[in-house]
Amino acid sequence: MDHQSAFIRAIKGEKLNPKPVWFMRQAGRYLPEYREKRAEAGSFLDLCFNPEMAAEVTLQPIRRFDLDAAILFADILLLPMFMGQELSFEAGEGPRLKPALQDGPVILSHDKLHDGLSPVMETIRLCREGLSEDKALIGFAGAPWTVATYMIAGQGVKDPSALRGYAYENPEKFEILIRELEIATIDYLRRQIKAGVNAVQLFESWASGLPVEFLRAFCLEPAMRIARALKADFPDIPVIAFPKGAGVQLKEYAEAGIFDAVSLGTETDPVWASETLSQHVSLQGGLDPLLVVQGGKPMLKAAENLLKTFEDKAYVFNLGHGFVPQTPPDNVAELVKFIRAF
Ligand code: CP3
Repeated sequence: MDHQSAFIRAIKGEKLNPKPVWFMRQAGRYLPEYREKRAEAGSFLDLCFNPEMAAEVTLQPIRRFDLDAAILFADILLLPMFMGQELSFEAGEGPRLKPALQDGPVILSHDKLHDGLSPVMETIRLCREGLSEDKALIGFAGAPWTVATYMIAGQGVKDPSALRGYAYENPEKFEILIRELEIATIDYLRRQIKAGVNAVQLFESWASGLPVEFLRAFCLEPAMRIARALKADFPDIPVIAFPKGAGVQLKEYAEAGIFDAVSLGTETDPVWASETLSQHVSLQGGLDPLLVVQGGKPMLKAAENLLKTFEDKAYVFNLGHGFVPQTPPDNVAELVKFIRAF
């Protein structure tokens, strides 16, 4: 089925007004109904692996706000969890992957990926059943480098770009790791598409601080190979790249000729993006999520600036990174209303 929601049309290049809108981390701790479901599930991972509950949490923001797309409720770290590391989320500490690759050898395997990730496919089927035709369902995965940073350190670190030191010390191991993640990601996203997602987004959250050659070899090129493999089987399913912090290298993503859209981080200059990237791809995102914590005039002024900058472009409204837990839901409602009326 060729899904033709406003979100998909804009991602495929249509210059729509009003702009379609969804938000990164639109399902999450800032919503009381999410916190309730998570408590009921017991833990974040129990929530991810319970298809009924995960589908419910995916649909919560769609019920509350006038959004054009839902994003599958899952996590980029579910992949390494089935490749030979044990994943846990300690309260207040973020993710832990054991054993960390930097501490010693880990045997990476693909054997458990299929069965392990099957509940996610069931979540997708339930979400698609629960969504009307005008709402798109977005699938996603972490891009190999970003997932690798967690696998190498065994946790989130302050400066993930410094983990390139591991790559320099262990070049063969590192290349195999990126390659294995690339293969697993292609398979995972193919399954998501077959289960019913209408677009996919590749989260490269840690593209900042890398030398250009490194970024090309381990961020851009793997993302291009993933997109190419998906396009070969599913030419109509759009692929969105989100290389957060890639700076001027965003231009190479835009000119790669394989991504339908590039998502902009909080730090990207919208005017530069509009002038440099928009002739090659659709654009998405850019609003500082901390302005939505603040709300009111500063938030609306920044939203207006984005809407004006991209008025004549193919653009989907979104943030420059995900909502933080202290975001007041009423500010989100006000923001969506403003975008709709613009
Ligand atoms: O609404 C959505 O955006 C969909 C679901 C989603 C989650 N994580 C749920 C989640 C998506 C798309 C992600 C992607 C993700 N996960 C990324 C890439 C985007 C980004 O934020 O840069 C990354 C780096 C991760 C890894 C991850 N997951 C971390 C570092 C953490 C802990 C930090 C935190 O906020 O606590 C998570 C946990 C996580 N993933 C939560 C949610 C809603 C919070 C879990 C909870 O309920 O406590």
